[in-house]
Amino acid sequence: MIKFKINLLVILIFAIHFAPALSDLLISKLDRRIDLTSQIVRMTLTLRVENTGPDPVSEFSFTFPSHQADNLALFVAVSTEGKGKNRGSATNLPLEVKQPADSPPSLVWYVASLPKALGKGESLNIDALAVFTHMLRPFPEKITQAEPQLFLFQDTAHFTSPYNVKYQTLVVKLPSESVESYTKIENAKFSGSDIKYGPSENLPAMSYLPVIVHFPSNKPFAVAKELVREIEISHWGNVQVTEHYNLIHGGAQSIGEFSRLDFQTRPNVHGASAFRNLIAMLPPRAHSIYYRDAIGNISTSNVYGDSSKTLLEIEPRYPMVGGWKTSFTIGYGLPLQDYLFQSGGTRFLNFTFGSPMNDVLVENLTVKVVLPEGSKDLSVSVPFPVKQSQETKYSHLDIAGRPTIVVEKVNVVPEHNQYFQVHYRFSNLSLLSEPLMLIFGFFSLFVACIIYMHADFTISKSSPSYLAKLQWDEVLGTIQQLQDVINRCLSIHDKLEASLRALSRTGDVQACKAVRKSADSLLKDLSKESKPLLAFLQSSPQAAHILPKVEELVVKERDLQEKIMLKHTTVVESYEKKSGGRDIENRVASIQQKISALKQEVDDLLEFVENI
Ligand SMILES: *[C@@H]1O[C@H](CO)[C@@H](O)[C@H](O)[C@H]1NC(C)=O
Ligand SMILES: *[C@@H]1O[C@H](CO)[C@@H](O)[C@H](O)[C@H]1NC(C)=O
Repeated sequence: MIKFKINLLVILIFAIHFAPALSDLLISKLDRRIDLTSQIVRMTLTLRVENTGPDPVSEFSFTFPSHQADNLALFVAVSTEGKGKNRGSATNLPLEVKQPADSPPSLVWYVASLPKALGKGESLNIDALAVFTHMLRPFPEKITQAEPQLFLFQDTAHFTSPYNVKYQTLVVKLPSESVESYTKIENAKFSGSDIKYGPSENLPAMSYLPVIVHFPSNKPFAVAKELVREIEISHWGNVQVTEHYNLIHGGAQSIGEFSRLDFQTRPNVHGASAFRNLIAMLPPRAHSIYYRDAIGNISTSNVYGDSSKTLLEIEPRYPMVGGWKTSFTIGYGLPLQDYLFQSGGTRFLNFTFGSPMNDVLVENLTVKVVLPEGSKDLSVSVPFPVKQSQETKYSHLDIAGRPTIVVEKVNVVPEHNQYFQVHYRFSNLSLLSEPLMLIFGFFSLFVACIIYMHADFTISKSSPSYLAKLQWDEVLGTIQQLQDVINRCLSIHDKLEASLRALSRTGDVQACKAVRKSADSLLKDLSKESKPLLAFLQSSPQAAHILPKVEELVVKERDLQEKIMLKHTTVVESYEKKSGGRDIENRVASIQQKISALKQEVDDLLEFVENI
């Protein structure tokens, strides 16, 4: 509340210090209506303007405080001549934001060019509509399920105009017949759901009289943070529309737990500000309508309608309360001939711009018109300023992709749901490109099959890649042979160990020595066998990266072999000297430790080499 008042005061001070130089015009009557029945605030102005000066005047200025201008989604003005029944037809007034050098920065000027200059003593009627978003602030900002949703609206009871105003009234329309509080200045009256201020007479230019209205509202505050509409034209007779919504309840934040049961039993008390459904008004001939979210198709949607419209009622999976979000997609098809027309050599799409959902405020709207492949010379005309770009969309069977017009706009209100046109050139031959492509595609497939059946896919024997592969195979083969040699060595180690165990059981020293003798000669042979294999690997550049490990393996095995031999000799000698079992164990204990460690290392290295 306090912040609001400061806001207003600042503007007031500026206004007082600003003496306009545009005082030749006089507003003889100004009726203003502010509609607060939805989240989108609409202000209609009906003015009668008179030239009281000697010189003709060709411009008329509206001023809005900048905090209102920032939220002004749409502003249009028309002029008519004559009075009462003799009023002529309306002429659209072009509007331009033009700030006079001496204007306070807190005011934004919209300058309308009159259809013809207003001479001395002449009068003109002007009707204007200003549509604002984000002008209602929830107060309190957070409510529980059982509390009512209240909003604050602030404005001035005297429309701030750079001209003197002879007579003016203001009516603020509320969504219901109840109001929490409103600024009670002179002549304020509350009746039905209207607050009436005025009439006020003979107000000087830049008058300002702040008023604040605090009132309950349970209208759905559905805000699409983002809406992407994709309109895809197929010259085979269809316009496919897909709309992706990212929706939030933009009213007072819901705090505390939300009980669905309470909501279902008494929805008007428990969560009165929540909304359960939204209605999309689709064209009458819409077909293949669907509604889905991230989980899948939602069955709680209804489609009904008549010859003038199709209504799609969508119901999110949970009731939407303040601050809750939901994302969903709706899609529908439309007959092409209703929307695509020819003029001269070009075709044009004539389609509606905004969301088909009533009273949804769209903060960021992107409209994409996807044209058939081969379309040329694209242009778009939208009746209000937008951001334009082009991109290419690819789907199956596309070669060059589909030219796509992308139009973006922020703060889109239902009033923006006007027709816009996309013009392009298209040769009918392009229409045949996809069927021809299919035919050609299948033909190519068959030809490819025939070639495949007859082709020899062996790699040329002199190609570098073939040679490299050959060399690598050889390296792998050699490693395998070396591995084999090591494994055979290891099994001989095992035999030696086994002979020692047999010795401790039988005491047969001769048998043990015989095993040792054959082992010696076998290991010598294996050592001879491994030498050329290692030499090959050392000379082969392709083996360079694995050579260190292989060499280490060979060295460790040799080491292991020596230790086992040492153990064998020690044990056999001890037996010959008839030493006791415990004594022998003590003598070989340190050797045995080294053997165990080496065995582990050899095993690890073998595993590494195996996985090359
Ligand atoms: C959803 O419905 C549409 C239209 O009826 C249908 O084409 C689509 O296959 C459905 N999707 C799922 C996931 O059921
Ligand atoms: C677009 O369609 C609307 C509704 O049918 C029509 O009123 C309007 O004149 C059309 N605009 C153009 C440029 O054809």
